[in-house]
Amino acid sequence: MDASRGLENLPVSVWPRLEEPPGFQYSPDHVAAAGCGPDPSEISIPGCSCQSASCLPSICSCLPYGENYKNSCINFEWSELDYSKPIFECNTMCHCGESCQNRVIQRGLQVRLEVFKTAKKGWGLRTLDFIPKGRFVCEYAGEILDFREACQRVQTQSPTDSNYIIAIREHLCDGQIMETFVDPTHTGNVGRFLNHSCEPNLVMVPVRIDSVVPKLALFADRHICAEEELSYDYSGRHHNYMPDLQRDQEKLHGEELKKKPCYCGGKTCTGFLPYDGSLFYGQDIASGTEETLGKT
Ligand SMILES: C[S@@+](CC[C@H](N)C(=O)[O-])C[C@H]1O[C@@H](n2cnc3c(N)ncnc32)[C@H](O)[C@@H]1O
Ligand SMILES: [Zn+2]
Ligand SMILES: [Zn+2]
Ligand SMILES: [Zn+2]
Repeated sequence: MDASRGLENLPVSVWPRLEEPPGFQYSPDHVAAAGCGPDPSEISIPGCSCQSASCLPSICSCLPYGENYKNSCINFEWSELDYSKPIFECNTMCHCGESCQNRVIQRGLQVRLEVFKTAKKGWGLRTLDFIPKGRFVCEYAGEILDFREACQRVQTQSPTDSNYIIAIREHLCDGQIMETFVDPTHTGNVGRFLNHSCEPNLVMVPVRIDSVVPKLALFADRHICAEEELSYDYSGRHHNYMPDLQRDQEKLHGEELKKKPCYCGGKTCTGFLPYDGSLFYGQDIASGTEETLGKT
């Protein structure tokens, strides 16, 4: 069985062969949620005018901060910074060729992935191939929500439900925070099977191609062996996505939150899955406004 229903450029196998993960609509790309949130299919980023086969940082308008990738691997040098350097790939409006080195995640899956039944975490995702550090693995794609809709959906979940909704906060160098809310519960891609780990082997990086809505791309944070389970840190701590306000809120409400136990098995496991209190309490970190959103 192909978990991606033939919609990715490589089939995604399922193990055990005779079991099927619970149904959802497969979409390799983000989709707009009905009646809320921005439309991720809108082309809104201008292209470069490079005539070369591959773009160079000194010339290309898509590369204002230097090279994004080297040999198809993400340039991790900037990850030491405490703000996100936006990554723009060359897009449909660019004049460069299809083989431009600044086109990586738009080429889709390059490693064979398998959705598999774990012992204690429900379904998970593993690689069937060795993955070198820095390589693109898959996207986390789903419905794009606005803040209000994300809060409403989070608040209607029961404590035992699997949570697929993710809030990504990009700290820009001018002090602004950009928020993106993605929900692959009903419509999404293979990324929805990625479990959390306190010692993850993937890192999530927002990447923009045609739209201002970022694609959430997962890259190998170290070399990964064939058959290893793939995971990332749901709190995004590696890239400082979690603002201080949210960290304080976690401490403040820590007792009351029905945190789920973490079964990542890492030596430094914190014992619980990270929890995004901002969506539960309806507190918009980007705008600094606080509102109480009722349950639907
Ligand atoms: C995005 S889903 C991951 C896929 C999910 N395991 C499934 O079966 O569809 C997130 C949910 O998986 C489970 N999960 C993920 N990581 C876990 C971990 N380290 N320990 C325990 N449960 C985990 C939790 O129920 C969590 O709400
Ligand atoms: Zn280019
Ligand atoms: Zn260019
Ligand atoms: Zn853990």
